[in-house]
Amino acid sequence: MNQDQLKQMVGEAARDEVLKLPAGQILGVGTGSTANCFIDALAPHKDHFAGTVSSSNATTERLLKHGFQVLDLNDVTDLPAYVDGADEIDPAGHMIKGGGGALTREKIIASMARQFICICDSSKQVAVLGNFALPVEIIPLAKGIVSRELEKLGGKVTLRLAKNTHADLNQTPSEPFVTDNGGWILDVAGLKIADPIKMEAQINQIAGVITVGLFAKEKANLLLVSNASGLERLVL
Ligand code: 5RP
Repeated sequence: MNQDQLKQMVGEAARDEVLKLPAGQILGVGTGSTANCFIDALAPHKDHFAGTVSSSNATTERLLKHGFQVLDLNDVTDLPAYVDGADEIDPAGHMIKGGGGALTREKIIASMARQFICICDSSKQVAVLGNFALPVEIIPLAKGIVSRELEKLGGKVTLRLAKNTHADLNQTPSEPFVTDNGGWILDVAGLKIADPIKMEAQINQIAGVITVGLFAKEKANLLLVSNASGLERLVL
């Protein structure tokens, strides 16, 4: 089974999971290739939900294309569940997220949701977070100061660059990647994150940081994980 099939399998499992919720509620929807599989699997059942809240412009576009209603988060006060992928997840359900650059809206929605359902294939499961470079969304003018502070924590900091959309795809991209919120992303490699809750709070306190892609306070409550031999459902 290849990785696309694993993502599809877990997307379908998440569909079955959220269809257990009573009809007429609002659902939080994440960003990324695994979340896309979930959206596609859920599309035939969109009327089960009164609407969705979306964690990125890309997800909003996909939801609308399928005919889901996408609500303004400010109009929503109760969110039973949020479904999203992860770049890494540890045994306690702490995650690194933000590989797709949507970490800030993802964290806002996760903080509102009563349940965070993480969906991934088993390649995302790790004993200790930190092999995947930790994304940190920042205010652009604070790049220098935030980078220096992150280096003090032992990380190697790289400014994320935009994917090359120029016709000459061999040309090296030189423009920063800009998030849906107008922020930039610093990817911090080389951190071994033994205490995710402490590091999340520490990085959040650096002036100029919008959001750190460590989801420790807002961790996953339910993990659906696919591997070659099937699907696991882990309550965390
Ligand atoms: C986007 C995210 C994604 O959930 C994460 O990058 C996983 O993506 P994928 O399902 O494509 O592997 O945090 O900001």
